[in-house]
Amino acid sequence: MAPKLSSVIAVALAGCRLATAQNPDDTAEVHPKLTTYQCTKAGGCVAQDTSVVIDWNYHWFHTADWLSCTTSDGKVNSTLCPDEATCAKNCFVQGDTNYTGNGVTTSGDTLTMYQYTKQSDGTYQNASPRLYLLGSDGNYKMLQLNGKELTFTVDLSQLPCGENGALYLGEMDKTGGRSEYNQGGANYGGGYCDAQCPVQNWKNGTLNTNAAGYCCNEMDSGTVDTTKPFTIVTQFNTNDGTATGTLTSITRKYLQNGVLVASANSGGDTLTTEMCNSLDSTAAAFGSLATSGQALARGMVLTFAVWNDATGYMNWLDSGNNGPCDATEGNPTLIIENNPTTHVVFSNIRWGEIGSTFSSGGGSGTTTTSKAGTTLTTSKASTATAGTKTTATTKVTTTSSAATPAQTHFGRE
Ligand SMILES: *[C@@H]1O[C@H](CO)[C@@H](O)[C@H](O)[C@H]1NC(C)=O
Ligand SMILES: *[C@@H]1O[C@H](CO)[C@@H](O)[C@H](O)[C@H]1NC(C)=O
Ligand SMILES: *[C@@H]1O[C@H](CO)[C@@H](O)[C@H](O)[C@H]1NC(C)=O
Repeated sequence: MAPKLSSVIAVALAGCRLATAQNPDDTAEVHPKLTTYQCTKAGGCVAQDTSVVIDWNYHWFHTADWLSCTTSDGKVNSTLCPDEATCAKNCFVQGDTNYTGNGVTTSGDTLTMYQYTKQSDGTYQNASPRLYLLGSDGNYKMLQLNGKELTFTVDLSQLPCGENGALYLGEMDKTGGRSEYNQGGANYGGGYCDAQCPVQNWKNGTLNTNAAGYCCNEMDSGTVDTTKPFTIVTQFNTNDGTATGTLTSITRKYLQNGVLVASANSGGDTLTTEMCNSLDSTAAAFGSLATSGQALARGMVLTFAVWNDATGYMNWLDSGNNGPCDATEGNPTLIIENNPTTHVVFSNIRWGEIGSTFSSGGGSGTTTTSKAGTTLTTSKASTATAGTKTTATTKVTTTSSAATPAQTHFGRE
């Protein structure tokens, strides 16, 4: 809790600086820098000045007297916030100055996300951060990937059964719903939206007073489960190969030690409109891949999460037919007991022209002039235990009807 003095200063400053509140307080958010790369075949990969911002709901909302504007059951206090304008007068969002405390550290182009954080008394508390890629202008970095590819390296070796490290794309407002009443916007992780249409306290940065769901295009381009670090390349192919063409297929490649490895996905490495339609009978009605392609043309926000699942123990990801884990070992009570330091590491995130973001030594027939090497540190297939998966769920959701158990996580506040 801030000492009395600084709270007085915060109120005074807020009073003159901001016409209305529910706006940032005087504690400026400190975003961890995360270098990413934009690539062309001719020019190689160029470092981008980017950082990560934690979701809006992880921030503290408080009154000018430092009382909480949220209730113990995670809702917004309806006395303080009966409507948007009154809420904006009464409540402020506090800048996050300690991402380590939220389980997030970065170094150069490497992002580490912890499920739990260690407290000063030695116990662990749930952190489960969700982050978005932020540009240097305080808005989300909008990735327009039609006719392009997205590549990243991931180390999941410290994720036990039941833990999900996710990197995916969501269509969100570039400003995070910045408005008169919410001047923080993307700088404070505002505007989250996904294809599960969660009913959230906030909707595109504004108070959600009528419990409306909020739906957006989403592409789960990297929910992965493996014990070995590897690089995932996702190529968004259009009918004419250009950024303005229609999205017709998505190709996924995996590299380890700079060499392409075969996918274990039963559907193979490429997802086409036809496959999309046969996997989901409602897909065609919603425009199938082409609809996702339209979202990609508008630009989507890169999202990172680490989480577990107290209800389903993440069985859909790694148990039964889906992986080597038994049905109960994903219970978070067991995870915090046995693997309190569980974490995922994402690094070397690159996007650009197809063939520009990776180079592979073997077998692909892909020639690239990219300067972006892969940074894999392991491993031999023989180190994998029986049943270890090196698959990613290649699920493209374009509609509100998509219902992955995974996404219940995002319905919470
Ligand atoms: C809402 O905020 C008011 C003013 O701070 C407080 O008196 C009340 O107890 C809060 N209500 C809930 C449900 O937290
Ligand atoms: C940040 O949070 C961590 C973990 O809760 C804590 O150990 C550390 O002291 C905090 N750092 C600052 C500067 O407050
Ligand atoms: C979200 O908020 C922004 C900023 O206020 C606005 O420009 C945009 O139209 C909104 N988007 C939707 C889908 O409501």
